[in-house]
Amino acid sequence: MPAPTITLNDGNVMPQLGLGVWQSPPDITAEVVRTAIAAGYRSIDTAAIYRNEAAVGEGVRASGVAREELFVTTKLWNDEQGYDAALRGFEASLKRLGMDYVDLYLIHWPAPGQGRYLETWRALLRLREDGRARSVGVSNFMPEHLRRIVGETGEAPALNQVELHPRFQQTDLRAEHASLGVATESWSPLGQGTLLEDPAVRQVAEKHGKTAAQAIIRWHLDQGLIVIPKSVNETRIRANFEVFDFALDEDDLRAFAGLDSPTGRIGPDPVSFG
Ligand code: A2P
Repeated sequence: MPAPTITLNDGNVMPQLGLGVWQSPPDITAEVVRTAIAAGYRSIDTAAIYRNEAAVGEGVRASGVAREELFVTTKLWNDEQGYDAALRGFEASLKRLGMDYVDLYLIHWPAPGQGRYLETWRALLRLREDGRARSVGVSNFMPEHLRRIVGETGEAPALNQVELHPRFQQTDLRAEHASLGVATESWSPLGQGTLLEDPAVRQVAEKHGKTAAQAIIRWHLDQGLIVIPKSVNETRIRANFEVFDFALDEDDLRAFAGLDSPTGRIGPDPVSFG
C-alpha cells in the first residue's frame, strides 16, 4: 500500500511517510535506499551534512523506479548560508545526488547568530522559480524565524522539519504552522530509538499487535505530520512501512499525549545552534 500524501501550500504533493538517512553510513546508504524503495517508500530525506547524498542518488537510480515517482529532499548546511553561497551549495548537492532537480530543498538550521537565514530563504525562492527545487522549506525554525521570512518575502515555506516525537510534541510551533499554512515534518520521530522501550508506548503497540516503532509512526500520521523514521536494517525498514492497517483510538491518543515533556528535546536548541 502506498503512503498517504500531504498537499503542500505550493500545490505539490508529498508522501507522508519517508525514509530518513541521518546517520546512515555513506557506504551502505545506496543499498538502504534501494531496499526502502523496494519496500514501497517513495520519499527519501537526506542533507549535505549527512555526507550520503551521492549514495542516495545511486540508490534511487538502482531502484528501477522512475525519478518522477520519487520525492527527494536535501538540505543546505549552515556554512553555506547567504544568497550566493546557498545557490552554490544547492548546485553541489544536486551534483552529488546526480539529479537535475530535487523535490524539496530546506535550510537545515536558522543559525540566527549568523543572521543570514532571510537572504538564504530568498535564494531558495529563486531555486523554486527556476524549477530546480520543486518545493522549498526550512528546518528547525522557531516561530520568530518563520514570521520574519514570511513577513519579509510574503512566501511561507512548504514545511518546517523539526525535532518531534511523543516526548517533544511541539504543540505551540504546530499551531503557528497551522496559522501560516506550513506543513510539519518530524525528525527523530522515534526519539532516536529512545521511545521504543517506553511502557506506555509498548502497551499501545501490544494492544494492536504492532511494534512500538509502528505505534509511534502511526501516531505521527494520525497527527497529520510528515514522518521520516531512519533505519538501515531491511527488516525494520519494511516494518516501519507496515502502518497503514490499523488506527489509534482515544485511549491510545491520551496515552501518547501524556508523554509530552518540556524537557523532551534530544537534539540541539535552534536558538543557539549553527
Ligand atoms: P537502525 O537504523 O539500526 O534500525 P529516529 O528515526 O527517531 O532518529 O530513530 C532512529 C533509530 O531508531 C535508529 O537507531 C534506528 O536503528 C532505530 N530504529 C528504527 N526503526 C526501528 C524499529 N522498527 N525497531 C527498533 N529500532 C528502530
